[in-house]
Formats: sequence, structure tokens, C-alpha cells
Amino acid sequence: MATTPTLILSFIFCHLLLLLLLLPRRNILTAAADGKWDLLLTNVGISAMHMQLLHTDRVVMFDRTDFGRSNISLPDGKCRNDPNDTALTTDCTAHSVEYDVASNSIRPLMVLTDVWCSSGAVMSDGTLVQTGGYNDGDHAVRMFTPCSDNSCDWREIKTGLTQRRWYATNQILPDGRQIIIGGRRQFNYEFYPKTSSADKSYGLPFLVQTNDPRIENNLYPFVFLNGDGNLFIFANNRAILFNYFNGTVVKTYPAIPGGDPRSYPSSGSAVLLPLRNNVGAEVLVCGGAPKGAYVSANNGNFVGALNTCGRIRINGLNPQWAMETMPMGRVMGDMVLLPNGNVLIINGAGSGTAGWEFGRSPVLTPILYRPGNLVGSRFEVQTPSSTPRMYHSTAILLRDGRVLVGGSNPHTYYNFTGVLFPTDLTLQTFSPSYLDPKVAYLRPRIISPVSQSRTGYGQQLAIRFTIPPGRLDSNSVTVTMVAPSFTTHSFSMNQRVLVLTRGNVTVVGRSTYLIRVITPGSGNFAPSGYYIIFVIHRDIPSEGIWIQIK
Ligand SMILES: *[C@@H]1O[C@H](CO)[C@@H](O)[C@H](O)[C@H]1NC(C)=O
Ligand SMILES: *[C@@H]1O[C@H](CO)[C@@H](O)[C@H](O)[C@H]1NC(C)=O
Ligand SMILES: *[C@@H]1O[C@H](CO)[C@@H](O)[C@H](O)[C@H]1NC(C)=O
Ligand SMILES: *[C@@H]1O[C@H](CO)[C@@H](O)[C@H](O)[C@H]1NC(C)=O
Ligand SMILES: *[C@@H]1O[C@H](CO)[C@@H](O)[C@H](O)[C@H]1NC(C)=O
Repeated sequence: MATTPTLILSFIFCHLLLLLLLLPRRNILTAAADGKWDLLLTNVGISAMHMQLLHTDRVVMFDRTDFGRSNISLPDGKCRNDPNDTALTTDCTAHSVEYDVASNSIRPLMVLTDVWCSSGAVMSDGTLVQTGGYNDGDHAVRMFTPCSDNSCDWREIKTGLTQRRWYATNQILPDGRQIIIGGRRQFNYEFYPKTSSADKSYGLPFLVQTNDPRIENNLYPFVFLNGDGNLFIFANNRAILFNYFNGTVVKTYPAIPGGDPRSYPSSGSAVLLPLRNNVGAEVLVCGGAPKGAYVSANNGNFVGALNTCGRIRINGLNPQWAMETMPMGRVMGDMVLLPNGNVLIINGAGSGTAGWEFGRSPVLTPILYRPGNLVGSRFEVQTPSSTPRMYHSTAILLRDGRVLVGGSNPHTYYNFTGVLFPTDLTLQTFSPSYLDPKVAYLRPRIISPVSQSRTGYGQQLAIRFTIPPGRLDSNSVTVTMVAPSFTTHSFSMNQRVLVLTRGNVTVVGRSTYLIRVITPGSGNFAPSGYYIIFVIHRDIPSEGIWIQIK
């Protein structure tokens, strides 16, 4: 009978072991190794369907004017009177707000016409230019010039566009204009500002070729400016390299293996991977919904999302897609380039598609993709959130390295109760593990230049930074330049990270170092405008500084 206690003990031990094995990995190793979620505000008044970070560290957000009354009033008893609005002809609530990162507060802004499913880019002077929308807003160009005294608001040119632009994609160009590509039933592109009265819109047959008229599966095309000045345009399941000067297709890429659509409403997402030494540009497209998923969702059958990513070198002789498998499927995800060049895949659903009420099974777990790792060891599962971020959710990088997450409204109104996924008015941040206090001993801090400095192309830039005493690993230091993106519908327009060519790290004082980097060679790599510069040490980014390149 002496064996009984031993048996009981080993029984308990086995169960403990089993329990430990079943627990998520982060509970056994380090609690915050996979990132951390924080709730910033419970009610910003609107659902953050579109977001843009400005060089004032303020984020402009808006949803749509025809959602009905939002949960935030316009200032000073103002109302918007619009006889053509489909929801309310007199609306005294705001549908756009400005979020101030420093004070964690918002103020209401006034948009005059419908900005729903629109697009935009920041011009070289830091002004956000947003284009199109729905109904009476579909030809509008709206401008928001940042200010620090809360005096600025939207200005609108009601007929600034030649064509209506709804679900279009914008890209800032090396000459300072923006190109506006596509939109529903628009198989063409145009520029803003216009160079002359003859500068109208130009046909783009690729958008006809990739259009399935029953589904319109090529909206919000993924557009990236290539270092040769051409545009990489991905729509539906394939891509071209396009010369917008003379309207020619320079290169046609093979269809993504499997042939499933990746653009709206099959909404996967895409990024241009970090550009190093101005060569080797690669595009990564992840997730989406299989062929037929939209029609199925319409019939109440929510098909599982795609769990594959396609990666392609866009400048090679014979570009081919390399496929990789994510730990889980995802549609309506957002892909955010982090300062250290890793890609965060966040938000979205495990089944269904984009479109009103068409998403199911929220994917609460972000995934980190490390592009420099070997195939098979690139994906890393992160700490889950408890807030579903479905259709009309967004995620953008902030200057301090956190990722701002908001939005989610799959309904045609603000519906807070009685629905599967209530309209979400909250703002959260996801802090990647590089912000964990445990790695603070490795974190660089930039001393100079100061934020808001200016620089030119192909110039040497001296950056002074500190690293806690005795911790420098000089070979691991890199300097990156990140363009803030216009984010909506799972795509971040104008998002790019440049890894600058660096010289040696020299010691200039106690724990103070200097590194010289070369700024990008031309506007083809970095169109004129505001960027965030980060110093990265052992994969840990400093807080960024704003720099304007001209
Ligand atoms: C809307 O605003 C009111 C007043 O500020 C607040 O009590 C309520 O919780 C808000 N609704 C939501 C869904 O946040
Ligand atoms: C409303 O729409 C009509 C028809 O498109 C247009 O003529 C009118 O100017 C619009 N009204 C306003 C205030 O925008
Ligand atoms: C149009 O662009 C292509 C690709 O850059 C180039 O090969 C071609 O010469 C251009 N054509 C004209 C007429 O400029
Ligand atoms: C959503 O909100 C609208 C407007 O308030 C309302 O008419 C509709 O019934 C709501 N839908 C649900 C499912 O509660
Ligand atoms: C950088 O460091 C390497 C190795 O220490 C050295 O060979 C090289 O000359 C240095 N370059 C400059 C510009 O100082």
C-alpha cells in the first residue's frame, strides 16, 4: 500500500504537466513576449473606417455621413445640412474626428459630403488630400492641413475629380501629385492636382480584364510605387507593372497560385516589403477569400478565409510567386509594416468576405511575419485581443512604435445592440514585443536631428543616438524611414519602409553614438513628404522622429 501516495503524486504531476503543455506558450515563457493590447478610449464617437497619421502626431479618422447620428456632436452647435444625404438631411453629429496621440483625446471635425469608402494620400507639405466617396461626395476632393491649435478642419472641392471614385486607391507620386486608380465601375485613373483642363482621366484595361462584373472583385487595388518609377498594381488575383506616364503595361506578372481573388470584397491585404539599398523590391499579399466566397456569403454560407501569402520579387527577369502558409486563414486583415521591417497581420475574420454582414469568426490573434527569416520560420502568433475587428476596421503605425487599432462596423447604421458584431467606437493599441520594458535596456534613443527637420535626396544624414551603457551591438544597428499610410478596407495606401544605407557606428560620448546614413536617391523611392525615422538596435526600434524629405 506504500505505493498509493506515489501513484497519487505521479497522477497529479502528469496532470500538471498536461496542463502546462496545454497552456498557451506565452504563459510558460514570458508573459508579454508576444505583444500587448491596451484600450485607449472607449468612445471616439465614430467608427474608425479610414485613418491617416499626420506629422503633428494626430490621426484623422472618418466613417460615412449616411450612417445616421454618430455618438459625437459637431462643435459649437454646428449642423450639416445636406438635402442629398441618404440618411439625415440635417445632422448635428460628426463623422470625422482628429485623435491626438500625445493627449489621448479626440475632437470632432466636419466633413460636408459623403466620404464613405474613399481614398487618400498626404501631399509633400503634409496636407492630407482625400478623394471621392459616395453619392454627393463621389467627385469631391477634401483637404486637411494639419495644425497644432485645433483650428484646422476639412476644406472641400466638390467637383475636384473627373470621375466618381468609390473604392479607389491613391498613391503619392515622385512629382508631388497623387494618382487615383479605379473605383467601382471606373476602369481608369486620374491625377490630383490636374496639370491642365485637358488632364482628365485615362483608361486602364487591366481593371476591365480583372473585373468580374457580378462581384467586382478588383476594388481597392493594391498599388505600390516601384523604384523605377512605375506602379505595381495588383487587382483580383494578378498584377502588372504600369507606366502611368504613357499608359503602358511594362510587365505582366503570373496570376497568384491557386487563382483566388485577394482584392475587395475578397479583401486580403498587401505590403511592399522594406526596400534595402534601393534594390530587390518584393511584394507580399496575404489572406483573402476564395473564389465564390462572396456569392456564398450572400446565401448565408460563410466560407473559410485563405491562409496563404504570395511573395514576389517585382523587378526580376522572370518573377514568380512564392507561396507561404499562415498559421490561420484571414480575410479583411490589415498588414502593418513595423519600424524594424517586420509585418504585423492584424484584424479581420476567419470566414466570409467584406461587405455588409458578410464576415464571421473574428480572428483575434495578430501574426508577425519576419521577412528576413527562412521559409517555415517567418510567422509568429501574437497575443490575442478580445475585440472583434471585422469589416471597416483599421490599423496604423504610430511614431512611438505602437499600432493604433480601431473601427469595425459591418452594418449600414450604428448598431450597438442586437447584432453579432456591434458597431465599435473604441480605439486600442497593440504594442509589439519590442516595446516590452524587459528589452528597454536595448532601446536606442535619437538625440539629433530633431523632429521636423528637413533633408534632401541622396544626402548624408548624421544621426546621434544613445543606447544604455555597455549594450551596443554596432552591427545590428539599422536606420529606417517609414511613410505614414492612408488605411481603409484592409489596405494601407502609400505605406513603405526604406532601410537606409549606413556607415559605421562611432562613439561620440558616454553611451552616445553617431551613425551616418544616406537618404533615398530620388522621389521614386521616397516621394517628397514627411517620414518617420527610426534607429533600430537588435530589432528594437527607438521612438521615431519626423523628417521631411524634399
Ligand atoms: C455614446 O455616448 C454616450 C455619451 O457620451 C455614452 O454614454 C455611450 O456609452 C456611447 N455609446 C457607445 C456605444 O459608446
Ligand atoms: C443635390 O443633388 C442635386 C442633383 O444631383 C444637385 O443638383 C444639387 O446641387 C445637390 N444639392 C446640394 C446642396 O448639394
Ligand atoms: C512608355 O514606357 C515604356 C516603359 O518605361 C517605355 O519602354 C516606352 O519607351 C515608353 N513609350 C513612350 C512613347 O514614351
Ligand atoms: C440598426 O440601427 C438602425 C438605425 O438606428 C435601426 O433601424 C435598425 O433596426 C438596427 N438594426 C438592428 C439589427 O438592430
Ligand atoms: C568601418 O569599419 C570597418 C571595420 O572596422 C573598417 O574596415 C572601415 O574602414 C570603416 N569605414 C569607415 C568609413 O570608417
